[in-house]
Amino acid sequence: MGRYVITAGPTREHLDPVRFLTNPSTGKMGFAVARAAAERGHDVALIAGPVALKTPKGVRRIDVTSARDMLAAVEDAIGDGDCVFVATAAVADWRPASCADRKLKKGLMSDTIKLVRNPDILKGVKCRHKIGFAAETNDVMSEAARKCREKGLAMIVANDVTEKGAGFGTDTNRVTFLKADGSVERLPLMSKLAVARRIVRFAEGLA
Ligand code: C5P
Repeated sequence: MGRYVITAGPTREHLDPVRFLTNPSTGKMGFAVARAAAERGHDVALIAGPVALKTPKGVRRIDVTSARDMLAAVEDAIGDGDCVFVATAAVADWRPASCADRKLKKGLMSDTIKLVRNPDILKGVKCRHKIGFAAETNDVMSEAARKCREKGLAMIVANDVTEKGAGFGTDTNRVTFLKADGSVERLPLMSKLAVARRIVRFAEGLA
């Protein structure tokens, strides 16, 4: 049986203890991948941003808040790198350059926020097989192909988040698998769990 490390949900990038930057990811796709991998008997570590979902049976879950917390938890879970890493998380690309330890007073806040880039977790980590997601609004396949190449992936799961039934918060998804060998598999609209099972089957076929 294999070892799977999966990221899910959004990250939160705090400005102060009560304010943060984030995105609408609910974690459903990543939790479905974790469930599908556990159902097949794999050892699963699920690194989750702030989401309101139940942990699938047989899955070890590690809760994190920011992208940097997520990176540290992923590196710890990947260990020697002999595993499959499936990155479904919608990681915030930027974070505020600083985070105050007390609530910032409205009257004293500046009207600009200085941002710095977050690490690209999927691109940076070293492990045997990496599978990523590309949620796009335009140029879906060319963007997905570029990300697959640049991040050194075995496969990227591309979806157009402007399509009905696909993307953030839904229980369904319409995705296209783009594999490292250039082959393309377009899947019909299906439940996220069905997509997840297809992803796990693909990962099981990797050497
Ligand atoms: O570059 P983009 O954010 O579109 O890439 C999406 C893929 O990269 C997803 O699989 C996502 O989980 C992963 N990613 C990441 N760390 C980031 C940004 C994206 O792991 N900072």
